Amino acid sequence: RSVAFIGSECYPFVKTGGLGDVMYALPKALAKQNCDVKVILPRYACIPEEYQNKMIYRGSFDMDLCADGKSYYVGIMEYVWDGVVYDFIDNQEFFTEGNPYTNLVDDIPKFCYFGKAALAALNYMNWTPDVIHCHDWQAGLVPIYLREMFNDTPLSRSKVVMTIHNLRFQGVYNIETFKYWTNLPDYVFNKDTLTVKWLDANMLKGGLTYANAITTVSNTYAGEIQTEFYGEGLDAHLRYHSGKLRGIVNGIDYDIWNSATDDKLASKYDITNVLDKKKENKRALQEELGLEQDDHKFVIGLISRLTDQKGLDLVNEIIPQVMDEHTQVVILGTGDPAYEDSFRYYENAYKGNLCSNIMYDESRAHRIYAGADALLVPSQFEPCGLTQLIAMHYGTVPIVRETGGLKDTVEPYDVNYNSGNGFTFDRYESGLLLDAINRAKTFYFTNRWCFDEMVQRNMAKDVSWENSAKQYRELYVELTK
Ligand code: ADP
Ligand code: GLC
Repeated sequence: RSVAFIGSECYPFVKTGGLGDVMYALPKALAKQNCDVKVILPRYACIPEEYQNKMIYRGSFDMDLCADGKSYYVGIMEYVWDGVVYDFIDNQEFFTEGNPYTNLVDDIPKFCYFGKAALAALNYMNWTPDVIHCHDWQAGLVPIYLREMFNDTPLSRSKVVMTIHNLRFQGVYNIETFKYWTNLPDYVFNKDTLTVKWLDANMLKGGLTYANAITTVSNTYAGEIQTEFYGEGLDAHLRYHSGKLRGIVNGIDYDIWNSATDDKLASKYDITNVLDKKKENKRALQEELGLEQDDHKFVIGLISRLTDQKGLDLVNEIIPQVMDEHTQVVILGTGDPAYEDSFRYYENAYKGNLCSNIMYDESRAHRIYAGADALLVPSQFEPCGLTQLIAMHYGTVPIVRETGGLKDTVEPYDVNYNSGNGFTFDRYESGLLLDAINRAKTFYFTNRWCFDEMVQRNMAKDVSWENSAKQYRELYVELTK
């Protein structure tokens, strides 16, 4: 099978969250299962030079885009790595910013351009994949362009999968702007396809309408988004299209996330020596962050974009109750200034035992996953969540809210059977989060033998891409039979 991934981020070129991880790991896993995979990405100026230097010019052409008939340059820069071909769409006018997203005024034209350029590039390269796999709102116009503007090209044979990584972001803007930038016919702007309110169009909604299949990144989230609470205004639309919607849970890349070979760690480990080595990693982390060095302390990590989605208001409320002489908290994240400031405040209030790293730092993230005893993910909603998967794989016990992918991947500890992977709570309430943290702590301090068993159970759990990549492959086969 051949498949073209189209999306706006991909580790290690550009990543703001889990979408970047998936755009890297899933194509690689599919390539291992004999899929022929190309990943089409914007050539952002912020892609590190070491990768920019490896790209090879593959060709260029001019493309019609706007209603005013102006044409736009499309360059294709290629990089082949680990069985996957990465094609970067080059256009200095759209992709000059240091950050992949700025504001909708700039982002809407940027992704109107990118979606069409991605398809035109496939045609230019004479490559007609069986499936075009679009990710999130930034690629939402791709299925529409394909059916409305590429009908007389070989690409029209390709089937389209649209994957929702996060329904909160949809690419909504006024219809006039979309009409100008896409030159799509008026009839696509109706309420069953692209339009949400009378003046606004919605890129993701359009993509969902036109796609042959819709997936999202866990089973539970696939159900949740069909309800008003999680549906972000598109629940009715998703219920209408539920026949072509399914959930396929994410995995993590075992080459990048491998505690036995991870050069970023103070001390590498596997399931046989995790209990000793984790202590070494904990002490090294405490030293790195200027925390009191004591491997008896229960260290709780939090690695997250600092946004409402992630349940940080709950965390904020209970920090004073969490902090006792046995506990340390390590936060790593950037985002909403209000959260950044409150976590800075707490660092000062609990100096030596709470550390807020208000930054984005891949390498430090590795050391926190390895050095912490538990990882918090109390999200309001969570399509899949990767941090709890990485944590488990690194022998760290997740404390999560039972929602979306968190529910599907973290089995609650059951004292009767001594089974499960972590501590969970259901309703979105700070008291319940505190309770789950306290259960984890009590377990750690009074029942260490069972806690250690959980650590080892988590490390042995399969959170790889293998199984899920197989499900995507099956979907591709189903669509192209
Ligand atoms: P989301 O995509 O909603 O942000 P995920 O759990 O799917 O959540 O993915 C988050 C990814 O981003 C993980 O790989 C996590 O380690 C990483 N990450 C988040 N914040 C930071 C940060 N401040 N520094 C380094 N890595 C981070
Ligand atoms: C989104 C979601 C996250 C998911 C990631 C990758 O950013 O918020 O839950 O793991 O996409 O699919």
